[in-house]
Amino acid sequence: MRNRPLLQMVVMAVIGTAILLPLALLVPWFPADASKQASNVHTLYDVLLIASVPIFVIVETVVIYSVWKFRMRPGEELKDGPPIHGNTRLEVVWTALPAILIVSLCTYAYTVLRSNEASKKGEMTVNVTERQFAFEFSYPRGSGKQVVSSILYLPIHQPVVFKLRSLDVIHSFFVPEFSEKLDAVPGITTTLRVTPTRIGVYPVECSELCGAGHSLMRSTAIVVSRAKFAAWLQSQPINGPPPIGTPSPRAVQPGVPGSFSSSSSSSSSAAPSAAAGKTVFIGSAGCSGCHTLAAAGATGTIGPDLDTRLRSDCATAASKPIRGASLSQCIYTAITKPYAYIPKGYSAGIMPPNFAQTLSSTQIQSLVKFLASVAK
Ligand code: CUA
Repeated sequence: MRNRPLLQMVVMAVIGTAILLPLALLVPWFPADASKQASNVHTLYDVLLIASVPIFVIVETVVIYSVWKFRMRPGEELKDGPPIHGNTRLEVVWTALPAILIVSLCTYAYTVLRSNEASKKGEMTVNVTERQFAFEFSYPRGSGKQVVSSILYLPIHQPVVFKLRSLDVIHSFFVPEFSEKLDAVPGITTTLRVTPTRIGVYPVECSELCGAGHSLMRSTAIVVSRAKFAAWLQSQPINGPPPIGTPSPRAVQPGVPGSFSSSSSSSSSAAPSAAAGKTVFIGSAGCSGCHTLAAAGATGTIGPDLDTRLRSDCATAASKPIRGASLSQCIYTAITKPYAYIPKGYSAGIMPPNFAQTLSSTQIQSLVKFLASVAK
């Protein structure tokens, strides 16, 4: 019966692993994956769990079992265990096994990193320019021309290479659903590759503390079908005004939350006006990408046509109690809480839900003035 404790520990470890491993695999450690790279990373994470949970259980079993079974009982105060003078075979095993395990896991992790970072056939380049405290996405259209946007549109199943640049301090580009993150460092261009695999709206975050406005430095990634993306790109003005442009001396001043909004257009720091609203509509808010509006020369088709739907949708009995009775109230709610009421034929999850954070209140009021003045 010399091996009874060993047998008991093996049984306990097997039971512990059988309980803990499925639990560990069931925990949603990541948001649902929306890119090919994300699913590779999540599989790697599952493999690491499968390898590490049994080891954790074995170590804890030996510790707890020994503390309990071999504890000092009354009258054993002066006793000591039998002296042990090394065991070569055991030492070779406990050195070799972890070494093999770690080398294999490192090799696997390295191959995942390599394949996620490898350049893909037919890649689309998106230039990401970051500064305190905004993102700008630019899509090269050949011979030096480009389409710029403050919202990141991506076609599904299209390999994309992001070229990250920073105009001031170190920022980062992070879309949790893509499981990809990389710093944008002033003076160098860094590259990150993503192949979106799920249609939807995802947050784009700066994940490098870059000043007092860091928490405001967010944008939105919208993954759409290839046809919708092509239509959006086609509808955008070529070489339009960059949403963030070159930082003004005032914007570079660290520690001024919302300083990006005061520099994106000279009119936005003044009192709200319909003219400033038009600039926001076409420029920093990126409304033209999704909505049709003759007064702004916008021809987007992803969201409701504002020429034909804005006034009529706001006038319905269903909309009034939720979005407010007046046209201006309705427009304000539609911008700041787009899912409070969803117009017929559309669904939640398409319109960026965070304009109340990404636009200044002056910009929003200007947008409301502009839209109320042109609604037919
Ligand atoms: Cu940019 Cu934090």
